Amino acid sequence: MSVSGDDTDDTARAVAGVVDGVDSGEPVVSAKGRAAGSVCVSVEGMAAGDSLVVSVDGREVLLCNVAGRFHAVANLCTHAQIALGRGRLLDYEIECPRHGARFDVRDGKPRRGPARKALAVFSVTSDGRTAEISAAPVDEPVPVGRRAAAGAISRLLRRGR
Ligand code: FES
Repeated sequence: MSVSGDDTDDTARAVAGVVDGVDSGEPVVSAKGRAAGSVCVSVEGMAAGDSLVVSVDGREVLLCNVAGRFHAVANLCTHAQIALGRGRLLDYEIECPRHGARFDVRDGKPRRGPARKALAVFSVTSDGRTAEISAAPVDEPVPVGRRAAAGAISRLLRRGR
C-alpha cells in the first residue's frame, strides 16, 4: 500500500495505511511532516515487535516498535542494498531477509555479519499515538565550507530531493 499526502485528510488516510502496512517491505506512508525536516505518522496500530516502512523526504526509513519504544533506521541493508522491511525484528535487532545480517535499531550498528557498515539512524519522538521521524539521519555530518556544501547538495540531488 502506498499513501501520500500533503494535508490533514491525506495524513488521516496515511494513518490507515500504517495499520494495514505493518511488516510490509514497501513504503506505505509518505506524508509531509508537521515540523520542518520531519514526518509524523500514526503508530496506534503498531504492536511491540512491529516495523513499518515510511517514506521520509524521499528516503525509506524503517520505524521499529521495540517494547513500546520507537526507533528508526535506514531501510536498506548495508551489505547488498536489500530492503529490511521484510526482515524480522528480534528485540532490538532487525534481521536482513537476504543473508541474515542483524542491526541494532538503536544505533544502526551491525551485530551479526555479513554486513559490516552501520545503518543510518533517525531520531524519533512519540507520544504513543504518533511518531515524528527526523528527515535527516542523526549522525549526518553538517557540511562546512564551499566544497563540503557542494558535496552535500550533490548527494541531495542524487536522492531526488
Ligand atoms: S543483503 Fe543484507 S545481509 Fe546480505
